[in-house]
Amino acid sequence: MSVCRNLSTFSTCAALSLWILFVVAWPVQSQLGSENKVMDNITVRQGETVLLRCEQGDTVTHTAWLNRSSILYAGEDKWSVDTRVSLVALNQMEFTIKIENVDMADEGLYVCTVQTSTRPRTTSVYILVQVPPKIINLSREIVVNEGSNVTLMCQASGKPEPSISWNFLSNSEDLASEEELLKISSISRQGAGTYECTAVNGIGTDVQTVDITVNYAPTITEGRDIGATLGQKGVLECEASAVPEADFEWYKDDRRIFNGLNGMELVSTGALSKLTFFNVSDGDFGNYTCLAINKLGSSNTSFLLYSQFRMAT
Ligand SMILES: *[C@@H]1O[C@H](CO)[C@@H](O)[C@H](O)[C@H]1NC(C)=O
Ligand SMILES: *[C@@H]1O[C@H](CO)[C@@H](O)[C@H](O)[C@H]1NC(C)=O
Ligand SMILES: *[C@@H]1O[C@H](CO)[C@@H](O)[C@H](O)[C@H]1NC(C)=O
Ligand SMILES: *[C@@H]1O[C@H](CO)[C@@H](O)[C@H](O)[C@H]1NC(C)=O
Ligand SMILES: *[C@@H]1O[C@H](CO)[C@@H](O)[C@H](O)[C@H]1NC(C)=O
Ligand SMILES: *[C@@H]1O[C@H](CO)[C@@H](O)[C@H](O)[C@H]1NC(C)=O
Ligand SMILES: *[C@@H]1O[C@H](CO)[C@@H](O)[C@H](O)[C@H]1NC(C)=O
Repeated sequence: MSVCRNLSTFSTCAALSLWILFVVAWPVQSQLGSENKVMDNITVRQGETVLLRCEQGDTVTHTAWLNRSSILYAGEDKWSVDTRVSLVALNQMEFTIKIENVDMADEGLYVCTVQTSTRPRTTSVYILVQVPPKIINLSREIVVNEGSNVTLMCQASGKPEPSISWNFLSNSEDLASEEELLKISSISRQGAGTYECTAVNGIGTDVQTVDITVNYAPTITEGRDIGATLGQKGVLECEASAVPEADFEWYKDDRRIFNGLNGMELVSTGALSKLTFFNVSDGDFGNYTCLAINKLGSSNTSFLLYSQFRMAT
C-alpha cells in the first residue's frame, strides 16, 4: 500500500486520506456495526521505546495508526515526519509501529483504525510517559549575616510530580521541611552548613545541595595571662571565632605592636594569633590587648605577660 509515494496514484492516495478523515471524524459509536477496543494504558519511561500493536485480519482493506488526529502510518506509508516513529510489522496478523526515545509530548491517545470488507474497527491505547525527577531550580550558595531571614528554593520537574524534602546535613536532629521553599527565620551561626534537597516521584530521585555561610562578628574564645621567665621564650595566644575570619591587632597598653619588632614575632593563622617573645626582657612584661576584627564588628580582650621565676631544679 505504498500509494501515497507515487504521484500517478494520487487519487488513490486522496481517497485513502478521505477515508481516514472519515473514520477519525465520525463519532466512533455511530458507525454502523463498528467495533472499538480500548487497550490498557501503556506506561513508558522517558527515553524508552514503545511498540503500538494492533490486530489485523485477512479481510483488511485499509489500516492506519494515528496520534490524536494526525496519521503516523497509513498502511506501510509513513505520514509522520518524526524520525523516531517507524514501522515494525504490517501483515495479516498485526500492524505494529514503534516510537523510540519517548518524550513527555508523546503522552496521549493513539488510535489504530482498521477497515475490513465487513466492518470498521478501532483500537485505542493511551500512552503515559514517566519522567524521573530533575531539580531544575535551586537556590545558589548564599552568604548572609547572622539574624537574617533566609529562604531556599528547590523546584523539580518530573512525572508524576515529584515531592520535595529538605534536610540540614550539618545537624540531623533539626529541620525537616516538605516544601519547595525552606524558610529559616533569623538564622544563627549554627544554621550555617549544607542543606540537601531531595526530589522523589517513584520513578527516580534527584538530590542537590546548597551551602549557607553565616557571617558574624568576632568573639574572643581563648586568651589568658601567661607567666614567662627572663631570657626565655614567652608566647601569648589569642583565638577568635568569626566569619569571615578575623584580622588580629595587638596592643601593649595603647601602643600597637607590629611584627618583627624587638625579638618578637606576630603570626596569625585562621582563628589563632600568636605573639612570641624569643628572649623575654623586663620591658616585655605588662598588659597586652588582642583585638579581633572583621567586617561585622570587633572584639578585644586584655591579658598579662607576667614575670615568673625559673623553677629550682
Ligand atoms: C489511562 O490514563 C488516563 C489518563 O491518565 C486515565 O484517565 C485512565 O483512567 C487510565 N486508564 C486505565 C485503564 O488505567
Ligand atoms: C504526538 O502528538 C503530539 C501533539 O501534536 C506531538 O507533540 C508528539 O510529538 C507526537 N508524537 C508522536 C510520536 O508522533
Ligand atoms: C527559578 O525560580 C525563580 C524564583 O521563583 C524564578 O524567577 C525563575 O524564573 C525560576 N527559574 C526557572 C528556570 O524556573
Ligand atoms: C524576619 O521575618 C520576621 C517574620 O517572620 C520579621 O518579623 C522580621 O522583621 C524579619 N527580619 C528581617 C531582618 O527581615
Ligand atoms: C637575651 O637578652 C639578654 C639581654 O638583652 C642578653 O644578654 C642575652 O644574651 C639574650 N639571650 C639570647 C639567647 O639571645
Ligand atoms: C589592661 O588594659 C586594658 C585596656 O587598656 C584595661 O581595660 C585593663 O583593665 C588592663 N588590665 C590590667 C590588669 O591592668
Ligand atoms: C575593647 O572592648 C571594649 C568593650 O568590651 C570597648 O569599650 C573598647 O573600645 C575596645 N577596645 C578597642 C581597642 O577596640
